[in-house]
Amino acid sequence: MSRPDAEIKEDLHLELTSKCALKCPACPRTERFGDYTVTELSLDALKNILDFDYKYKIVSLCGDHGDPIYHSQFHNVIELLLDLPGAPSLHIATNGSGRKADWWKATAELLRPKDRVIFGIDGLEDTNELYRRGANWQSIMTAAKTLKASGNSQLVWQWILFEHNQHQMPEARKVFEDVRFDDFWVVQSFRSSDTSCKPATITIDEAKMRFQNG
Ligand SMILES: C[S@@+](CC[C@H](N)C(=O)[O-])C[C@H]1O[C@@H](n2cnc3c(N)ncnc32)[C@H](O)[C@@H]1O
Ligand code: SF4
Repeated sequence: MSRPDAEIKEDLHLELTSKCALKCPACPRTERFGDYTVTELSLDALKNILDFDYKYKIVSLCGDHGDPIYHSQFHNVIELLLDLPGAPSLHIATNGSGRKADWWKATAELLRPKDRVIFGIDGLEDTNELYRRGANWQSIMTAAKTLKASGNSQLVWQWILFEHNQHQMPEARKVFEDVRFDDFWVVQSFRSSDTSCKPATITIDEAKMRFQNG
């Protein structure tokens, strides 16, 4: 049945799965591991949740306890979302580790220029793993480069600023250009429970300026 407000555009945030290959220390899935079920939304469940009369503007695949790329039917999920009325943009947030080039190629071929993949990469090869524990640098680079080579979605590099990575902005700029990311976001660590990664001693604006100056 059609909703009377079907013309209203809304954003939707979906947590596809509570699976993840990493153990970022301040992530709820690491802090509360064992207190929740590691599972995923089935395609049938998603079909029930989604309102196919509603014109969503953005569908964000991020979540709080998992990483969308580990959903066992990720490409089927994307196909389902591409069929939504209103043709919403898809925003996929991921650590980027663990999937092979052919999986990313299939992803690239599904995504459109208005879709974005937001990579959470908090440092370079020698520092990313200090927070993104279990991440694999080569795997992340394969992911980003394959997306760029095989499709036309937007690639965002999201960098959580810590004391241990604040000096790396000029080098990050080189990697950014080499991979051909489209945007670079510097964000504050908002989870204070993690004492192993010290807060940055420079501001977000200063980090951005260092990045811009290269
Ligand atoms: C639980 S993650 C789920 C998505 C995906 N697994 C990821 O890490 O990008 C949700 C968001 O929290 C961010 N995040 C994780 N730890 C954070 C921290 N200490 N401070 C700020 N944001 C954090 C991630 O980068 C992501 O944007
Ligand atoms: S990659 Fe995302 S979901 Fe996985 S542990 Fe880190 S913050 Fe949590």
